[in-house]
Amino acid sequence: MIRSAICGIGMALPKRVVKNADLEEIVDTSDEWIHQRTGIRQRYIAGEGETTVTLGTQAAQAALEDARLGIQDIDMIILATSTPDHTFPASATEIQRALGMAHGFAFDIQAVCSGFIFAMTTADLYIRCKTARRALVIGSETFSRLLDWKDRTTCVLFGDGAGAVILEAREGKGDSQDYGILASILRSDGRHIEKLYVDGGPSTTQTTGHLCMEGREVFKYAVGMISDVVDACLEIVGITAPNIDWFIPHQANRRIIESLTHRLGISDDKVVITVDKHGNTSAASVPLALAVADKDGRLRKGDLIMLQAMGGGFAWGSIILRL
Ligand code: UT7
Repeated sequence: MIRSAICGIGMALPKRVVKNADLEEIVDTSDEWIHQRTGIRQRYIAGEGETTVTLGTQAAQAALEDARLGIQDIDMIILATSTPDHTFPASATEIQRALGMAHGFAFDIQAVCSGFIFAMTTADLYIRCKTARRALVIGSETFSRLLDWKDRTTCVLFGDGAGAVILEAREGKGDSQDYGILASILRSDGRHIEKLYVDGGPSTTQTTGHLCMEGREVFKYAVGMISDVVDACLEIVGITAPNIDWFIPHQANRRIIESLTHRLGISDDKVVITVDKHGNTSAASVPLALAVADKDGRLRKGDLIMLQAMGGGFAWGSIILRL
């Protein structure tokens, strides 16, 4: 059976680092509050000339280099983002142009913080039904441009960045020893829209709008919803959580990650945490964490990795893959 295996990983971050102390100058907050409640110490914020497309392009180029492939080897691009450079065309086509790709096809997926999980799952389906042999899957965001910088309850939480992987068709036996994506579960429930949304858009206000979040409410649902999809993925693969080599969760809040980890019985040394350095980068958070763990040598070929994300919609999902 065909599996979609990762053959390249890349990342990109804006140049400017903004520490918690820097935010004390803008809103009534403190390094202590932010770190205690979220685990965040700093985040990267896009400057002039840095956009979702430029960051996504850099991450894609890094993934291609990592895979020792050229853009001619790629059949499709999926970009997960809620912060496109333009309302249309899809920012994926702008990245396609920047990479010099005139063949194949490219499109965006919008599932907010879960976007990368949705994009990977979509690419996996294209690969398994043989529409594509190799897919470039990118999560890229510039949430700093959606924030109300006067709202301390949201502006301290998010950051900008991009991560990318290349998925490639590989023959497997159909068991849990195969390389590639072994299970994925997607979920959404629109009854929770008001808990995390942007109050603008082309068809309503004709403005971009600002991010609005009832943080405590989101927190309340997060652990239960994520546990459900994670358990469903584990069941498909036929393993238990302690069998996982690396847990790479969405990086929204260290306390959510710790609750999940304890509930699942995964030891802390198997959890990749980047929220301290990147903040919450929405669809970029999971591929950025994957790229950081790959670049610092933690990930090894054959490792069993569990990805997970949850955010606006609510939309949430999980993937188990063998690297
Ligand atoms: O990626 C999408 C998914 N998003 C998430 O997973 C986010 C989930 N939620 C969270 O991570 C947390 O709920 C937050 C980090 C957003 C907030 O932490 P919390 O422990 O739930 O705090 P809270 O909202 O209950 O606020 C506690 C207090 C409030 O003051 P009062 O009402 O107790 O007097 C807030 O006004 O902290 C105050 N506060 C702040 N104080 C200093 C809120 N923001 C700040 C701030 N600095 N930046």
